[in-house]
Amino acid sequence: MNPFKFGTIVEGDFFTDRVAETTQLAQKLDSENHIVLISPRRFGKSSLVQRVLSQTDRPILQLDLQYVLSMEDFASQLLRAIFKRFQMEKVRHAMSHFRVIPTVSSNPVTGAMEVSFHPSANTSVLLEDAMALVDKVTSPDKRLIIVLDEFQEVLKIKKGFDKQLRSLMQHQKNLNYILLGSQESMMEAIFEKKTSPFYHFGQMIRLPKIPHEDFMVYITERLPNGDANVAEEILQFTTCHPYYTQQLSSQVWEMMKYQKIKEDVVTKAIEALVTMHDLDYERLWQNLNRTDRFTLKQLVMNRQPMQSGGLAASTSYSSLLRMMRSGIVVRSTHYEVEDPFFRQWICRNITQ
Ligand SMILES: Nc1ncnc2c1ncn2[C@@H]1O[C@H](COP(=O)(O)OP(=O)(O)OP(=O)(O)O)[C@@H](O)[C@H]1O
Ligand SMILES: [Mg+2]
Repeated sequence: MNPFKFGTIVEGDFFTDRVAETTQLAQKLDSENHIVLISPRRFGKSSLVQRVLSQTDRPILQLDLQYVLSMEDFASQLLRAIFKRFQMEKVRHAMSHFRVIPTVSSNPVTGAMEVSFHPSANTSVLLEDAMALVDKVTSPDKRLIIVLDEFQEVLKIKKGFDKQLRSLMQHQKNLNYILLGSQESMMEAIFEKKTSPFYHFGQMIRLPKIPHEDFMVYITERLPNGDANVAEEILQFTTCHPYYTQQLSSQVWEMMKYQKIKEDVVTKAIEALVTMHDLDYERLWQNLNRTDRFTLKQLVMNRQPMQSGGLAASTSYSSLLRMMRSGIVVRSTHYEVEDPFFRQWICRNITQ
């Protein structure tokens, strides 16, 4: 079986490194503090959190704010998670204070449990009731852990939602929140801006890429010929980005194993992946305006747009900001195209 995996949460043998982060998270969960975990997309936040959670027998509730459509929906999804995790007997008793009684039904199409409210119900009341139930189901000896993924979406769900949520959260005891986010600038605005309701709400942890040495060992051991030069070439291209590294390694493994390719296998694997995604990249490119295309071209030619001329610095800057918000561009020590295969696709097309 292919020993590389990408796209979903990785566990067990597929998971590498993150030893320090795993310990750090586990220790934080052993306190009254909350955790804010930030990284760019697909760096391994969910995998790390699942790893830490798999080592505890405390009850866990998980919501992804990307899929929460309104405040009412948040209350409904939170209740659904509670109903699934705790025995109905315990919950029913704890709901005696509810001002609006939810309806629980089974969706005839998906079979999933649904929680709904009377349309005229006051949304703030629903939220308060649901958050109060959280308090009732948690206990000092089995403290609840609530994971809210893509937390920056809190700003988009409804104006003022962040404020309401924060004021309800600050009274809760005997639980830890883990708030994950991949839009760094928004996460920073939420947790580091003094005027934000979530200012300094929890300990902020930034997840880096996987260290080069760890990835070298991980890849080399799993390649059919155990060739460290091939592993090094893969990492040169992906700069240790967890997802893209696994993706390229997986392709290289297949080409070595099934097509018996020995020469230039990394280059051939990159070419194959770029070709595979040609349609997606073309669509992405077509949806960009000329300024953004120009900026990307500068980036793939290793020029930093604001210093390279051609466009006014302010125009370049707003183009970079726009593309950072949509995740096409990321910034570490310098601006770069997030997806190395898209970078390669641009290279291939502009140099033709
Ligand atoms: N510790 C790890 N060891 C090996 N590969 C990893 C590790 N963490 C992440 N990856 C690789 O990165 C991919 C993305 O991981 P994951 O879904 O956990 O990231 P994420 O930051 O939660 O992503 P998203 O921003 O999409 O929510 C995995 O499918 C896997 O290929
Ligand atoms: Mg995730």
